[in-house]
Amino acid sequence: MNEITEQIASSIDIAEIISERVKLRASSRGYVGLCPFHSEDTPSFHVYTDTQSYYCFGCHKGGNIFSYVMETEHVDFREALQILADRSGIKLSKSGREHENKDILRLTEEFFRTNLNSSSANAPRDYIMKRGLTEVDINTFGLGYAPDAWDALTIYLRKKGFSDKKIADAGLAIQTERGIYDRFRGRIMFPIHGITGQTIGFGGRIIAGEGAKYINSPESEVYRKRKNLYLLDMARKAIREKGRSILCEGYMDGIRLHKAGFKESVASLGTSLTVEQAQLLSRYADRCYICYDSDRAGQDAAIRGMYILQANGLDVRVIMLPEGKDPDEYLMTHTHEDFENLISSAKPLILAHIEALRTRLEDVSTRKSAVRELFSSLEGLRAGEVFEYKAQLCEAAHVLPGELESMIITKKSELPEVSEKRAKKDDDDSLECALCSMLMRSADYRLRISPEEAMNILNESDTKALAYELLTEDVSELGELWLKTGDTYKLGIIERGKVLYEQMKGLNDEDRFAKVYSGLKRISIERRIAEIRAKPLEERDYQRLIELYHERDKYGL
Ligand code: UTP
Ligand code: MN
Repeated sequence: MNEITEQIASSIDIAEIISERVKLRASSRGYVGLCPFHSEDTPSFHVYTDTQSYYCFGCHKGGNIFSYVMETEHVDFREALQILADRSGIKLSKSGREHENKDILRLTEEFFRTNLNSSSANAPRDYIMKRGLTEVDINTFGLGYAPDAWDALTIYLRKKGFSDKKIADAGLAIQTERGIYDRFRGRIMFPIHGITGQTIGFGGRIIAGEGAKYINSPESEVYRKRKNLYLLDMARKAIREKGRSILCEGYMDGIRLHKAGFKESVASLGTSLTVEQAQLLSRYADRCYICYDSDRAGQDAAIRGMYILQANGLDVRVIMLPEGKDPDEYLMTHTHEDFENLISSAKPLILAHIEALRTRLEDVSTRKSAVRELFSSLEGLRAGEVFEYKAQLCEAAHVLPGELESMIITKKSELPEVSEKRAKKDDDDSLECALCSMLMRSADYRLRISPEEAMNILNESDTKALAYELLTEDVSELGELWLKTGDTYKLGIIERGKVLYEQMKGLNDEDRFAKVYSGLKRISIERRIAEIRAKPLEERDYQRLIELYHERDKYGL
């Protein structure tokens, strides 16, 4: 560990942090309790105060205070560091770039907010009030106003010392050959915050004139649409406490739900749902209520997104709003209790899907395609999840129970043999070395993978140890340290890894990483498949295999 991580680790007691979530009782080397990572009835989760670490004898998860926070808060190493630093009152020195980004976005949020408060901002204030928001809401959600001018923000940020390039790179202005102009003009501004509350982007709603209803910050290193959910920073506590999340689409929907007392709500901001977002939500609660506009909920893209959530461990229920309404509109004229009733009658995803296909299922001329659609959606799910709705599926698809089972189980006869094309051991090794080499090469690569995931996809103990070191220590000092301690074989691994890295010269950094990562991921999945197939198959192995084959296919051949 480097100095700062060590300082943070030593200022915090791991048992204290863990006890916030897990009921611990004293044992010989520390404490023991029910594992927060898997469900169990008898405690096998041990917390060791002497080494400030934990280990579960049930699911074999273990680690230190940083991995614990990464796991439970679903954050990366840097964010975990930030959370723990905040707790212990230690200031983290940011890398230059991060610092600037943080500053520029925070300043911009303030700028928008100040503008909304200025006396000339009558129109936006009227608009906000007309939508039923109050002074308190403006503060709670950090709403602001981007002046209706070409360069008000740019001029302000220049004065604060930012270059035009920085302003454009942060997504706040657009640079053209003829000059630079503000991205957000004459719009109500909604700041978007990351999981630790830092400003990562904005959405701006038009209040008059022509143009897109909303404009959003472009995708960037700081603002990763796929990995964030609007209001999650404010919602995660309530999601955990209530054991459910509510997922809506729009800025105003999210805000309205919070105002109505549903603080477990987050918004996807109109983009299609991702595996990362599913994982993010499933960390806090297993059940997710989807609350889309009534006319959107049944659309193909929306349904596909819901299956992504379901396939990634969430129990998805679909809330049905009355015709033509979105959650914001509904709650303008209905009470908390009304909405709670809608939640109680929300349908499990499969049933909601059948409902959405109902007319097509009932018409013989469209039934076939509707059934195909329904069943192909089910492929990503576990057989158990599907069989729960056997009766309804049979009824909807007009098949007999036996036929249904074979439709779902046909995967059984299709289970492919372990691929002969599986890369030879040498190739596997060079992929492992290449990953290490890339992690040594730049911080950008290191940010792309967590230590845990690296442990997950690597197989050799040497590369595992090396990658772990690279992801948790100060890399700039490692080379020298190895020379001193005689660990020169590590330099050897790095050198070997360079060969493959050089062979990928034609690719950009992102693609290189993706190539190495998906190769390793695939091999690691194949390893697990081989382990299971090495023994006589039991009923539950079967499901596990189907899942693994599916997962493997995601990572190419
Ligand atoms: P909607 O079109 O349903 O708008 O888009 P809304 O949320 O009801 O907006 P209000 O109530 O009229 O203010 C849902 C979400 O899709 C994204 C926004 O995040 C929006 O909240 N969106 C929509 C855009 O990013 N750009 C657009 O032009 C429209
Ligand atoms: Mn709306």
